[in-house]
Amino acid sequence: MTDDKPLIQSNVKVSDLKEGMVILAYTGFDEKYKVLDENTCKWVQHNFKGSTTVVEREGGESAIPVENLSVGDHLLSIEKLPSTLGHIARVSLKLAEELTKRGFLRFTVKLAPATAGGKSDELKAAIEEANEFVHKVKENIKVCETATDAVESLIDNARQGKTNIKDVENCVDSITGGESADAIGAIISLKKNDQVYAHCVDVAVVFTTTYYEIVRLRGLKSAFKDEKEAMLAAFLHDIGKAKVPKEILDSTAPFKRNSKEMQLIRTHPETGARLLAEMGMPDVFSNMAHYHHVKLDDTMASSYPKDVKSEDIMFETRLLALVDAYQALTAGRSYKKSWTPPAVMRYLDATAAVEFDLDLWQDFQQVMGHYPRGSFVKLSDGTFGFVLNVPKKEILKPQVAVIRNADGEDLQNHYLIDLQIDRDISITQDIDVKEIYGNKALEVFANINIG
Ligand SMILES: [Fe+2]
Ligand SMILES: [Fe+2]
Repeated sequence: MTDDKPLIQSNVKVSDLKEGMVILAYTGFDEKYKVLDENTCKWVQHNFKGSTTVVEREGGESAIPVENLSVGDHLLSIEKLPSTLGHIARVSLKLAEELTKRGFLRFTVKLAPATAGGKSDELKAAIEEANEFVHKVKENIKVCETATDAVESLIDNARQGKTNIKDVENCVDSITGGESADAIGAIISLKKNDQVYAHCVDVAVVFTTTYYEIVRLRGLKSAFKDEKEAMLAAFLHDIGKAKVPKEILDSTAPFKRNSKEMQLIRTHPETGARLLAEMGMPDVFSNMAHYHHVKLDDTMASSYPKDVKSEDIMFETRLLALVDAYQALTAGRSYKKSWTPPAVMRYLDATAAVEFDLDLWQDFQQVMGHYPRGSFVKLSDGTFGFVLNVPKKEILKPQVAVIRNADGEDLQNHYLIDLQIDRDISITQDIDVKEIYGNKALEVFANINIG
């Protein structure tokens, strides 16, 4: 298609309908709509409830609500479909087939952004960026696995008194380049993630990306030498778990609050701080390890260690506490259902005043968005897709890669909707992507291809 073609086309044949187009009006019909009989009249009224019809009646043309359609009318068009009729407006292969059968022949359509000739430069750039981002995710799946293995062997070795962080440093090197950390951060909720090792990787990437954004927003000076050092510190925050027996660490069963196992697990912050000091790491590393489970209200049962002076807790540690909670809630631990990223954001918002530094929470929320990248959402036209960015201005209106139609069928041709541009569409629900795609969720995301 050339750039001259308008976004709206009229007189489109049913055989030329394409997935993702939106029907604005039904404008051509077969013979049975020329003189409506009672059955056809009722059928149209039922299926197009709330629309406007244009009819020829007694030699004159008039636009009337579909409810006023009468036997004998000649139907010329059906227009102004309300949003409740998304299922007969948003074109899918199944709908096109059904329309042919029902004798609907011509339409006025709005082209899907991906197939529209009149794509703005802004949208073209967004599509290119979105595809690049998905490509980045694909490239980083392996990096993530390698990093998880490196954390596991680091913790296993530390258990035997050997602390060699070379492998973890190598992983940090491969992640900090370009937008890799961002890409890994977006896929946290898509992978099955029931281990402490993968937790460290996820926390490290989300910590690094959000930390630098917040430091920039607040005009602060970073406590780290560079991005690599920040990521390494977050990678090592749970290193104290090396002194917890492996069978407890790898257990997929929950432990009771006052059980022996839980008491052992709760020693990891102090152990971690000591190990890191012995390794000669900067103070901020030990601080993050030591205090990342201390809540703002330290009388809470989930706050440990006890009796910590709040001024001893560094800004970096407070952010880590937030990221740690965010990851733990989104991760699909096998003994509890994981939450969708937007649900976690809502939960943290409700508990922030008691558990976390409230100002910091607000900055975190601004950087992550209400719908963090990688969230799977349902749109008001019934379609489904992945959130691909965090909009700067209107936080509830991200760009969404639509991959599933309103009938729940996966699309062959994915397209990008920018909710800041397509203002008649909004997010109506966030969905647990693993409930739909199971273990394939990450693969589905990595195969997004916007035309
Ligand atoms: Fe921890
Ligand atoms: Fe942790």
